[in-house]
Amino acid sequence: MDRPTLHEAAPPAAPARVLPAELAIVVPVYNESRNVPLLVAALDAALTGVRWEVVFVDDNSPDRTADQARDLALADPRVRVVQRFGRRGLSTACIEGILATAAPYVAVMDGDMQHDERVLTDMFRRITRGDVDVVVGSRYVAGGGVGEWDRRRAAMSRFATRLAGRLTRAPITDPMSGFFMLRRDAFMAALPNLSTVGFKILLDIAASTPEPLRVAEVPYTFRTRQHGESKLDSLVLWEYLQLLLDKMFGRYVPVRFISFAMVGGSGVFVHFLVLTIVLESLLTFGDGAAHQGRSFAIAQGAATLVATTSNFLLNNLLTYRDQRLTGRRLWWGWLSFNLVCGIGFLANVGIAHYLYQRQNYLIVSALAGIAVTTVWNYAMSSIFTWRK
Ligand code: GDD
Ligand code: MN
Repeated sequence: MDRPTLHEAAPPAAPARVLPAELAIVVPVYNESRNVPLLVAALDAALTGVRWEVVFVDDNSPDRTADQARDLALADPRVRVVQRFGRRGLSTACIEGILATAAPYVAVMDGDMQHDERVLTDMFRRITRGDVDVVVGSRYVAGGGVGEWDRRRAAMSRFATRLAGRLTRAPITDPMSGFFMLRRDAFMAALPNLSTVGFKILLDIAASTPEPLRVAEVPYTFRTRQHGESKLDSLVLWEYLQLLLDKMFGRYVPVRFISFAMVGGSGVFVHFLVLTIVLESLLTFGDGAAHQGRSFAIAQGAATLVATTSNFLLNNLLTYRDQRLTGRRLWWGWLSFNLVCGIGFLANVGIAHYLYQRQNYLIVSALAGIAVTTVWNYAMSSIFTWRK
């Protein structure tokens, strides 16, 4: 019997009932498996009369948040999951979630129930009027609030907000908000200029559009977390600084390179500190005084090792925070970083020596050696140590 091939079979008609979502809620999640079902239920209750879908973007959480979300998706096609692997980052998670949906309106909200889903319908009504690009859930307009925040956190947030105002060119009272809704075309206009560092995606978008965003705000009160804990540690301040640096100087030099060079600078300090301590103790306590040359070699070796290790760890923590190595990959990373820097060191000495022979300027020769080596170390470690 002849069965029709796939080619000949009539294409299935799109089922009439399944209409595409007009609003997508993009939710970055990391270790939120207990909150995910609560959020889906809350969205279901809040968003009556709106065709919505929710896109959870998980970074391979150890608590299997993605599995939890997929279980829900089997019962409810409005639930979708993007699971990323080997990468972390709140901003990039939001961006990839927005790019994974076709909905013309997109909201971003936290997956821990701290954002009030009941204002989503207001936001939607506001944005579909067509005269604004973004509706921001704000804790700082009348009717909003920060909930149970300690004084330190509230003050820090206010300070960061003031800094941000200079970049966005748009009147947003709460540019640090992780809760907002925007038109897809506004996001697409910002996309080529996004910095993608850190966790302030709204700020990044607002500072990246060719035209200032047209903004409306709705108040909401930041709720207290019931399950799980905040993922934003003290290093968020550093990430925030990186975003600001990138927005100001990113056109001229990658912010990763600035960070890498800063860490390198700290390495020089570490080097001389260890060198002095080791050398002094060898000369004072050991028989170092009799073998000064050998003592210096030992001290120099120890200083180099400690400085390279500290550079490696700091870069892993700060410069490559989004790709940070852990466990066994940390050891391999350390090894490859030492190799890269070892070759870089030889190049440094070679170049400085060559230049010094030709023009006799000590400082210029030394700086040229350092500059070339920094670029070399940066380029090579990005290929071999923190490879994607
Ligand atoms: N995919 C992914 N990857 N999600 C993440 C990551 C990550 O690396 N880090 C955090 N998240 C998720 C969390 O699971 C949560 O759903 C949401 O992002 C916010 O993270 P929290 O750790 O709960 O942040 P917070 O409550 O301290 O900060 C919130 O308030 C700030 C305003 O002060 C966030 O909304 C921030 O965006 C906001 O700026
Ligand atoms: Mn939170």
